[in-house]
Amino acid sequence: MSELAILGGAKTRTESYPAWPVWDQRDIDAVTEAIKSGRWGGFPYPGPKTAELAEKFSEMQGGGFAVPMINGTVTMEVALRAAGIGWGDVVIVPAYTFQATASAPMSAGAIPVIVDVDPNTYCIDPGAVEKAITPKTKAIIPVHLGHQMADMDAIMALAEKHNLIVIEDCAHAHGAKWNGSGAGTMGHFGSFSLQSSKTLTSGEGGILLCKSAEHAALAASVIDCGRPHAVGGGEEDANGLSIQGGNYRMSELQSALALIGIERFPAQAKQREEMAAYMDESLSEVQGVRVLKRDPRHTTRSFYRYIFAINPEEFGVEHDVLCAALDAEGVGCWVGYEAMHNYELFQPQKSKLAVPNAFPEYFDFKKMNLPEATRACEHEAVWLDESIFRAGRQGVDDAVAAIKKIQRSADELNRAAEDLRKRYGK
Ligand SMILES: Cc1ncc(COP(=O)(O)O)c(C=O)c1O
Repeated sequence: MSELAILGGAKTRTESYPAWPVWDQRDIDAVTEAIKSGRWGGFPYPGPKTAELAEKFSEMQGGGFAVPMINGTVTMEVALRAAGIGWGDVVIVPAYTFQATASAPMSAGAIPVIVDVDPNTYCIDPGAVEKAITPKTKAIIPVHLGHQMADMDAIMALAEKHNLIVIEDCAHAHGAKWNGSGAGTMGHFGSFSLQSSKTLTSGEGGILLCKSAEHAALAASVIDCGRPHAVGGGEEDANGLSIQGGNYRMSELQSALALIGIERFPAQAKQREEMAAYMDESLSEVQGVRVLKRDPRHTTRSFYRYIFAINPEEFGVEHDVLCAALDAEGVGCWVGYEAMHNYELFQPQKSKLAVPNAFPEYFDFKKMNLPEATRACEHEAVWLDESIFRAGRQGVDDAVAAIKKIQRSADELNRAAEDLRKRYGK
């Protein structure tokens, strides 16, 4: 009988990791209060709970004017619209991210140009950004991926030099800090998701942090059907329209949940940060595992998923096989996203945004060479579930024990790999 759970052996972790989202009577009371108030939706914008959420969230991140809305995809589209970026403009995005980072510019009518990531952090490579800048480029969307942060000093220096707008995609980075500054407060905009898997959640939801009050007023207009919003808050003139918009307003029920989430967040974030440091230490002794580099300027880590890399030859199996086996051991994990230039969606003929031959170097995806993102997505990356980091040192110990167990049985696993890939769909 095999030692491995995926081949019929006993699981390393039999107890479930803690569930997400976390809730208690406070959430029930907050939603009940919102229901009883009769103000359920988001009109007129912002409702009292949404206004409170905006204030508390910018306090939590340490700056910016917060505009809550329906999700963390629309946040980026709204930022582009508020900054006047649209048809024919180019926005640089990293190859390693969720599809929303590239589809948001497309929704605003702009063209996403995909560049490679830094292998040390898996975040956007500032050198690749610089090479991709042309007179058509209007914005950069760095993504703070998993538990990492993009090099914001380099990105902001490039933005200043080339007069570009920076929208930090902080869907994974609530509470994270770079040189003591909160994620989302360094760029012109910071985009946050409050979708149910995120570490601050209202089920669905998003918050856009804006550096300027003018951008925040425009963003509020875009999400409120184009109604003018005064700089500094409040509706200006309900009859006039100032900018093309739609109904992307956050509801009071969602804001009520997010406000309770903010109360819980500091203790959860502290626990994740401590356990991530313990995971770094524990994984560094496993052969063939590479702990991603923590930049010393990344002063507070707060994360969505913990990512590490393997060298498949040294570790013994490919990352998809490791992930399938780890999952079976009771340790939630995932291989991560596909490289962005491999998504059908972003092929120029699909988006219809790419003017034929206008940007051949960026839109002939077959000629696109993004080796670091490709290596991460196809061979190296392993994303560990956040819940592992809320189960104390034992939670981390069990995950590391399972990884070591899989490595011990690598030969057996490789013999079964073809069948496993069929079973797990790769
Ligand atoms: C990196 C990144 N950006 C943006 C989003 C979009 O957020 P939402 O699902 O709230 O639209 C996500 C969601 O998973 C994400 O992971």
